[in-house]
Amino acid sequence: MPASHDKACELLVHNARIHPCVTDGKIASETNFTVRGGRIAAIGVDDAVPAHERFDAKGALLLPGFVDCHTHLCYAGNRMDEHAARLEGASYAGIAKRGGGIHSTVAAVAAASEDELIAESLPRLEALVAEGATTVEIKSGYGLTPENELKQLRAIRRLGELSPARIVPTFLALHALPANADRKRYVKTVIEETLPAVVEEKLADCVDVFCEHMAFTVEEMRAVFERARELGLACRAHSDQLSNLGGTRAAAGLSARSCDHLEYSQDADVQALADTGAVAVLLPGAFYFLREKQLPPIDALRKAGVPIAIASDLNPGTSPIASPLAVLHLASTLFRLTPEEALLGLTRHGAAALALEEKVGGLAVGRRADFTLWDIPGPEFFCYQLGGIQPHAVYIEGKAYVADKFSPRHSRVGGNPV
Ligand code: NIG
Ligand code: FE
Repeated sequence: MPASHDKACELLVHNARIHPCVTDGKIASETNFTVRGGRIAAIGVDDAVPAHERFDAKGALLLPGFVDCHTHLCYAGNRMDEHAARLEGASYAGIAKRGGGIHSTVAAVAAASEDELIAESLPRLEALVAEGATTVEIKSGYGLTPENELKQLRAIRRLGELSPARIVPTFLALHALPANADRKRYVKTVIEETLPAVVEEKLADCVDVFCEHMAFTVEEMRAVFERARELGLACRAHSDQLSNLGGTRAAAGLSARSCDHLEYSQDADVQALADTGAVAVLLPGAFYFLREKQLPPIDALRKAGVPIAIASDLNPGTSPIASPLAVLHLASTLFRLTPEEALLGLTRHGAAALALEEKVGGLAVGRRADFTLWDIPGPEFFCYQLGGIQPHAVYIEGKAYVADKFSPRHSRVGGNPV
């Protein structure tokens, strides 16, 4: 009998400690909820409600699955040599100028088959899920040619088929100018060839642009965004990471869903985000790994009421950090986000950056039953201890995927291992 005609729900979760900040303030002290059709059906139900499966959380902390709204995890190779060079004094921009940086990963992606890309990227995605990520955005941007961008986006689509997590693909249309390419001709190819091909194959519903002195100008970003919008795609920008070109203001003015990085953003940029409702996505992993000094204008974002998301930015050059828990920790220690801000950044506001706030990123009736269970005192603990924390279970659409084999209390948890 289909679940919707069945009196019993698929799953009853009871005895959970649900943190109120992830429930949109609607439930402060409920411990039980039911799942039907992979969605949260009712919150605050009786323990005796008929259910096909019952899960006694035994007082564990229950949180919505994390939403990692900004990653570049689909790539080949690594850039350990550049990290070593930076520790000797080289700069990120300087390495890029000498043909390394993004171009080095572009060469590795060009040399990899779609299958090889998947084989290298899947463990990174699994690492995110094992720490509680249930929605993960993945960008292209290491292909640069139409052929290789499509290869990367097809690999991202297949990663979504292989993982229980929801994968949100983004076409990173302007990331780096290929060596010896003519700027104008390159941007024209992206707009006239790659973008329509991505839309034709339905490989992404959002475009991104790296707006930076070492990458692309505001005008080039504008041209791509305008065409993308005509084709029905949403827009996001990497802006103000290393300098301020006015990219955040311009992207917000073009209805970008989010502007990401923002280390060099000024008051006018914060105001533009506030005025348009765009999400500020902060990436403490890149800030940490590049040993940056310039902090994003966090207080101004707070005061202006801009929703602040945080994400891993998982990529081989600036943030080889496959750990949502490290992101929570770094957001707290480096950006001084409160534990609640950090948690909302990786749940509700991460979902908003992907326009998925009605579906994921919180515990509410009708949302996807994506949740995680933790044997810790509260979410503050993520900002305090680094390492040694694992979820007991990661539930995606009401099904358990990661079980703590060492803990007898959750030995009933079934489902496919990720
Ligand atoms: O988000 N800033 C541009 N893109 C990535 C880095 C890409 C790379 O270095 O491979 C980022 O930091
Ligand atoms: Fe990025």
